[in-house]
Amino acid sequence: MRIGVIGAGSMGGILARHLTKLGHNVSIANSRGPESLTALAAEIGATPTSVVDAAKAGEIVILAIPTKAVADLPRGLFANVPSSVVVIDIGNYHPELRDGRIDAIDRGMLDSQWVAQQIGRPVIKALNNIFAKSLLEKGVPQGTRARIALSVAGDSSDAKTAVLRLVDDIGFDPVDGGILDDSWRQQPGTPAYCRDLEAAALRRALAEADRSRIAEYRAEQEARIRRSL
Ligand SMILES: NC(=O)c1ccc[n+]([C@@H]2O[C@H](COP(=O)([O-])OP(=O)(O)OC[C@H]3O[C@@H](n4cnc5c(N)ncnc54)[C@H](OP(=O)(O)O)[C@@H]3O)[C@@H](O)[C@H]2O)c1
Repeated sequence: MRIGVIGAGSMGGILARHLTKLGHNVSIANSRGPESLTALAAEIGATPTSVVDAAKAGEIVILAIPTKAVADLPRGLFANVPSSVVVIDIGNYHPELRDGRIDAIDRGMLDSQWVAQQIGRPVIKALNNIFAKSLLEKGVPQGTRARIALSVAGDSSDAKTAVLRLVDDIGFDPVDGGILDDSWRQQPGTPAYCRDLEAAALRRALAEADRSRIAEYRAEQEARIRRSL
């Protein structure tokens, strides 16, 4: 499959690495341009490219950038990208630690709903609720005992099916996390956030989340990260 990865930091780099290993044709971009990615891309077997070309490069495009950076993406980035192309948002909004305040999210819009609005097309939320280290080290083949599960939320069932398959391919049990309006259940600090849970436990964690606590979950997660720094 052709896959574009926008963002070449911890998460984008690891995802690109996994995906090239699986035989996918991966194009990767960052904010500084393809020249800055020559060494990484050569090491992992991806093609360094611009953000504009990465958006056009895939049947799947992965957004692996800080939430605040989504607003800086070129205007109309996806305007001529076919609607069949699946866009995955792996981002998490960290207002205090990184992103600054985004009013719409603070007023109740979900992280990935805001991203979808910014880029002007639907997204699938996935891969946001696993830490980079686990993503790098803990993927195992289907059927392995205690395999970590990851939830995938989005409105298009075809797009979601493609992402569920991708999650499985990179070593994790895929769990349907519902429509995009359910994606708050896997946002920062929720019971389903970055706990390396197996499928049954992840489903329970998604179910037990409390929508009235979204902001509180996020603040608690930011406090945990701050303490760990
Ligand atoms: N780290 C984790 O454990 C983890 C886990 C799950 C989800 N996430 C989420 O995944 C996203 C990426 O996290 P990360 O840890 O990979 O971040 P990171 O290591 O800081 O990397 C961010 C990447 O985004 C690129 N970028 C920034 N602004 C850009 C722009 N306007 N256009 C194109 N590329 C841009 C950066 O490129 P330059 O270096 O050239 O600026 C860099 O390659 C965040 O939303 C984060 O919350 C992170």
